[in-house]
Amino acid sequence: MFTNRKITRRNLLATGAAAAVSGIPTKWAIAQTKPVKVGLMLPYSGAFAQLGENITYSIEMYLAEKGGKLGGREIQIVKLDDESKPELGLQNADRLIKRDNVDVLIGTVHSGVQMAIHKAVTESGTLCIVPNAGAVAVTRNLCTKNVFRTSFSNWQPAYGMGVALGKRGLKKAAWITWDYAAGAESGEGFKQGFEANGGQVVQTLTLKFPETNFQPLLAQVPGLGVDAVGAFFAGGGAINFVKDYAAAGLKVPLVGSGFLTEGVLGPQGAAAEGVETALHYGDGLENPKNTAFRAAFKAKANREADVYAVQGYDAAQLLGIGLDAVKGNLDNEASLYKAMREAKIDSPRGPISFSKSQEVVQNIYVRKATGGLNKVTGIAVANLADPGTGCKL
Ligand code: BEZ
Repeated sequence: MFTNRKITRRNLLATGAAAAVSGIPTKWAIAQTKPVKVGLMLPYSGAFAQLGENITYSIEMYLAEKGGKLGGREIQIVKLDDESKPELGLQNADRLIKRDNVDVLIGTVHSGVQMAIHKAVTESGTLCIVPNAGAVAVTRNLCTKNVFRTSFSNWQPAYGMGVALGKRGLKKAAWITWDYAAGAESGEGFKQGFEANGGQVVQTLTLKFPETNFQPLLAQVPGLGVDAVGAFFAGGGAINFVKDYAAAGLKVPLVGSGFLTEGVLGPQGAAAEGVETALHYGDGLENPKNTAFRAAFKAKANREADVYAVQGYDAAQLLGIGLDAVKGNLDNEASLYKAMREAKIDSPRGPISFSKSQEVVQNIYVRKATGGLNKVTGIAVANLADPGTGCKL
């Protein structure tokens, strides 16, 4: 059994030359008629299940728009529920790469699981597109030529929120989050943005992922003397946190990385009203791509699109650009990666491009939760690139 990725260029040349003489179809030619196997390693259960579903819906939507083919080849999807469990990450990634022989791995949502995927794809050389998880190492010190991200680095949205608050003249803030990579790295972004603009983060409060007993942390807020509380939570945890914050009757404004209110305003209800967040997407972004995307997503998923859906769609768009450039030949790695790195994508969030470390470059918007929408009120930072510290690409 072979896949086209595993045929080396030397083998290709040798078999190709012989077969050209004999008229027998080459392994390469046979491989090109096979579907490209794309593994979706995403959460379909647990706190981030809806995030994984929305990414999947929009990937399927894009493939349907392209008649099920990219770069002239059929795309075969293999799904795996990673449950947002980092401890299962390596074995799950290996299952897709070594047992299912996927050619491309799109995943995942949770930063801890991403680090396991990153190890597996760095070792195997499998093309990987990250459709959510923001773990900064992926496009910083551990960057590698076969990994691209269409979502964000954890640093980006929170940095934007910190900048916006600092520019407004706020002086002191606290940060509340889960104690894992996404929470800590978002906190670092918030601190850098805020402190570069005259503010100071005086306290960070954490609890274990995916716990939701927020009361002991919220009880400390009045004693901190802060002008704002910034937070990173997402999915089910974000629903509970925003509700508990409102129920605690705190007078300190709540702000955050946009995941705090993204895709969860319905269940958060009145508790979310007025919460400001920063993200690379929001309601009221008027562009033709977004209008068409939202209508198509609603028709497919029977729910409103959110940032997770956008990131999944753009992961599929990026794969399409790469496969088109090499006419479906994933072995033409240099041309494949070059085309992906140089891609300019018409995203529902607005135009995006990629940095040298293969991280998405994008606007970070300020949004205010108003009447069930995350209404964009301005741009916190335009065309924000992650610093890409330590990446040698
Ligand atoms: C993360 O773990 O990187 C993450 C999870 C949900 C939303 C945003 C980031």
